[in-house]
Amino acid sequence: MKGVLICGGYGTRLRPLTEITNKSLLPVYDKPLIHFPLEVLLKAGIREVAVITGPEHMDQIASYLGSGSRFGCEFSFKVQEKPGGIAQALGLAEELVDGDKVCAILGDNVYFDDFSDVIQNFEKGGHLFVKEVPDAERFGVVTLEGDVVTSIEEKPKKPKSNLAATGCYLYDERCFDIIRGLRPSARGEIEITDVSAWYMENDVLHATHLKEEWIDAGTFESLFRAAELARKHLHKDADVQNIKKKTKRTLIADNPSVSRT
Ligand code: DAU
Repeated sequence: MKGVLICGGYGTRLRPLTEITNKSLLPVYDKPLIHFPLEVLLKAGIREVAVITGPEHMDQIASYLGSGSRFGCEFSFKVQEKPGGIAQALGLAEELVDGDKVCAILGDNVYFDDFSDVIQNFEKGGHLFVKEVPDAERFGVVTLEGDVVTSIEEKPKKPKSNLAATGCYLYDERCFDIIRGLRPSARGEIEITDVSAWYMENDVLHATHLKEEWIDAGTFESLFRAAELARKHLHKDADVQNIKKKTKRTLIADNPSVSRT
């Protein structure tokens, strides 16, 4: 499976920050936003990643990510001249994906769940990751029967549920043909929701429910919340490490035959 990191767009809701740099390079506590979606791909064992962004800040993204060697992966970069939709951005990765399955992920989505097993076990059709939200009209909205998606709509005025399709999409090799057949929506974009809808109508579209908080960090408030949560998780991880070290020290003190490695 190949990964596609979708980091284009103008990030208008985060201006003036996004006049200086790309949204996905903005800081989330101790690291740039792009680390969160990238870690989803790396944790799932994906080693070839296409990075799509606009011409404005491609230089900064490429100079930050580099070849990929320090992340243990290989990046290739593609420029989306204008933000014509998330599915259009994904379409630019066709050459790299080269007939393989794809995990496409938005550069501004912050996940705290580990769903690498779902990515690794994905075979055919489409698969989404969904989360309850209080403001579903801002997102792609799904209804489910079990883990099968029964309806999907992009930013509906009257959402049928409170379940948002988050910005991580698993598709089989047909997605590029599907994208070629799509027409722009009323807002002039080739919509990722239309790709998912094709799988729902013509094959199968599954969904996994996220348990932890999920954030679309496209606004000041959500970017701030992402930083708060990142800090909390970092400290929690550090606490767990400290407890482990303390427990080991106590064990060694009580029983010198326990290994010190
Ligand atoms: O975050 C999840 C939501 O992301 C989904 O629920 C929606 O179905 C999906 O359409 C998308 O909605 P947003 O309104 O959040 O999309 P936004 O325009 O903010 O773009 C999301 C990311 O994709 C952002 O980092 C920029 C990038 N992008 C966007 C467009 C339109 C591109 O790289 N190229 C594009 O043409």
